[in-house]
Amino acid sequence: MKISILIIPLGIATLVLADGDSTTSVFEVPLVRNPTYRGDFQAQMQKMRNRYGSPETIAAAKKGVGLVPVTSPAFDTEYYGPVKIGTPGQTFNMNFDTGSADIWLASSTCSTTTCKSHRRFNSSSSTTFRLDPAKRRFRIEYGDGSYANGPIGTDMVNVGGIQIRQTIGLATNESADFEVSKMDGMFGLAFSSYESVPGVKTFMTNAIAKKAVALPVVSAYLPSLRRSGGKGGHYLFGAIDSTKFHGNLTYVPVTVKGYWQVTVQDVLVSGQSLNSSYQGIVDTGTTLVILDDKTTAAVHSKIKGAYFDKQEQGWVVPCSLSKAQTGSVGFRLAGRVFEVPMADIAWEPVGKGKGKLGGEICYSGVQSIDSPVWILGDVFIKNNYCVFDQSAIPSVGIAPLQ
Ligand SMILES: *[C@@H]1O[C@H](CO)[C@@H](O)[C@H](O)[C@H]1NC(C)=O
Ligand SMILES: *[C@@H]1O[C@H](CO)[C@@H](O)[C@H](O)[C@H]1NC(C)=O
Ligand SMILES: *[C@@H]1O[C@H](CO)[C@@H](O)[C@H](O)[C@H]1NC(C)=O
Ligand SMILES: *[C@@H]1O[C@H](CO)[C@@H](O)[C@H](O)[C@H]1NC(C)=O
Repeated sequence: MKISILIIPLGIATLVLADGDSTTSVFEVPLVRNPTYRGDFQAQMQKMRNRYGSPETIAAAKKGVGLVPVTSPAFDTEYYGPVKIGTPGQTFNMNFDTGSADIWLASSTCSTTTCKSHRRFNSSSSTTFRLDPAKRRFRIEYGDGSYANGPIGTDMVNVGGIQIRQTIGLATNESADFEVSKMDGMFGLAFSSYESVPGVKTFMTNAIAKKAVALPVVSAYLPSLRRSGGKGGHYLFGAIDSTKFHGNLTYVPVTVKGYWQVTVQDVLVSGQSLNSSYQGIVDTGTTLVILDDKTTAAVHSKIKGAYFDKQEQGWVVPCSLSKAQTGSVGFRLAGRVFEVPMADIAWEPVGKGKGKLGGEICYSGVQSIDSPVWILGDVFIKNNYCVFDQSAIPSVGIAPLQ
């Protein structure tokens, strides 16, 4: 089975800025550097957030909290949940992506096979839709080469009850990659500076400015199918659900605003340090964990039976690892180690292994690609609750799932 395309079904967006007829491709633009945060940052954040975390406060909050249930297909390749767009609301399954900033979905005027394989937005049947007066267009390309483009407009966007007027992209041209995807469109949760149309602000930036969210946060609870037994998880806009994780959140300050970029201080395999540190992005839109070549090889050198499979163009591990009761791949962030159990390193089965070990082999949940940053994708997030916090000092609050 050829599955290299699945490494990053969506994942990080490459900025493509349309500038008249010429197109400039920009990757990794260092934007606003964080001010140095004080040593008591953790304590300050805990104090501020603990007030909001209890299930009671979430239930009591009538305003400013939006809950979106999400599900994932086999192997947790992507997580999607319903969003209503327009008046009356048309419902779409959106993939919430912290690795890109645009919201887009197929337009009903697009009748290609790819567009027709999903629900399409009909702007003519929404009384609140406004086409962009400047006739600007969005163009987006993702890390795996998939793309979408088309006109933009604004309409009412309702996320679990939080409703604001928001810019959306109406895709009239989508790459065929999206045909296999279960989602109808993408819902960007990165920072506004990564919007493909300069000047456009993200849903969260607008919702915060309009005080439509109780807290400037989006919390991702994305348990694996294995863990949730098919019940799925949720995104919580404007709140934190402390019943979903153990202990306190550790707030990891964002180093570069754009993606949710943080400093990964070390990688550990079953507690053994690899002395490897790098910038990484916490990305709900990428399925796997992506590291550099050297670190990926070092991780697999500590896993019995793992090897690089040329045919599959990736690292593979024995599928029997999925039954492992012990061992983990850990990532140290803001001084604390967050783990992915070994059992989750055995990802999708790809066939029979080579050599003495034989047996079924699985694609590894940790792979390497040529990327300027590491990517902590769903393999990481499905084991660790993540709060994408857009406070004055932005940070990702992380704690192991319950
Ligand atoms: C879109 O909505 C308009 C107005 O309700 C309708 O006439 C048109 O047929 C719809 N288009 C599609 C492709 O469903
Ligand atoms: C669709 O977009 C791609 C990528 O930008 C472009 O190469 C292609 O020409 C476009 N197709 C049409 C029909 O506009
Ligand atoms: C969580 O943080 C609070 C406030 O800083 C502290 O009192 C408490 O001991 C912490 N709990 C755990 C389990 O770390
Ligand atoms: C990591 O660094 C420590 C201290 O310098 C050293 O003892 C250890 O061997 C190193 N481990 C690796 C895997 O490089």
